Amino acid sequence: MSSFEKTSYNGLEAIKISNGSSVVIVTLFGAHVCSWILDGEEQLFVSSIAKFDQSKAIRGGIPVVFPQFGRPNEIMAQHGFARNSIWTFVEAGEESYFALTDSQETMAVWPHSFRLSLSVKLDAKEMKIHLGVENTGSSALECHTLLHTYFRVDDITKTTVTGFGGLSFQDHLGDHATKENEGEVNTIDREVDREYQDYSSDKTVSVICGKQFDVQTKATLDGNSTSFDVVFWNAWIEKSKATGDLDDDAYKSYVCIEPGTIADLKRVEAGSKLLLCKNIRVV
Ligand code: BG6
Repeated sequence: MSSFEKTSYNGLEAIKISNGSSVVIVTLFGAHVCSWILDGEEQLFVSSIAKFDQSKAIRGGIPVVFPQFGRPNEIMAQHGFARNSIWTFVEAGEESYFALTDSQETMAVWPHSFRLSLSVKLDAKEMKIHLGVENTGSSALECHTLLHTYFRVDDITKTTVTGFGGLSFQDHLGDHATKENEGEVNTIDREVDREYQDYSSDKTVSVICGKQFDVQTKATLDGNSTSFDVVFWNAWIEKSKATGDLDDDAYKSYVCIEPGTIADLKRVEAGSKLLLCKNIRVV
């Protein structure tokens, strides 16, 4: 059974969620999972020079991307406003969660009424995160969602990723072409920024780095399965250097596996609910 307790994390108000030897910290700024300590060991990467002054999203952990991935709408911030907004913690015992609703600020850049909910559940070696988008308005809304997960690894050169064998991906780099994955096992020896569209909820993406993180995802719209995608990202050397809140060597210590609904905007009708469910198991 999980317990929830108020705490602070680098000066930010936060909630500590504990179940046995699994402890997660979620800041109200962004409903951002910043730390997951399992059996005494940190599982997530947070940049040593991340900012915690709310001037930008925290670099690392699990930022919530909503309502846009990237910046198709230039009025809105890159990856949307959810990761830069103050969420509310809703106490409901075991079912406690984080919530964000539309405000004057969100309406100014995205004119829709919504209610986001984020819940984190812990089992022995597993974290389950559910991100819900409810349309509380009277007309349809369209959005992206994504859980941008930074896994901590000891050495990127000894890290491999499986789960993309036989699939094609949209390259976010260079010519932005659709390409075939190289084989069953991906290594990381250069900048990687890929989008595997319409991934299967029967498949698992695994990050193998001494231990193994298994990531499984599903997405539903009013309870019916809907497609989702997975982004695979590592900034590598030049982009780490060029990114203000990543130190030059940061690329050695993380890999992002980011399940989300981003290939297309999802249309959520008035009164409907989109749900993105991600399970991470440490093997
Ligand atoms: C990934 C994108 O999801 O997020 C990358 O595919 C991007 O292109 C990365 O660089 C980090 O984005 P941000 O806004 O957190 O710097």
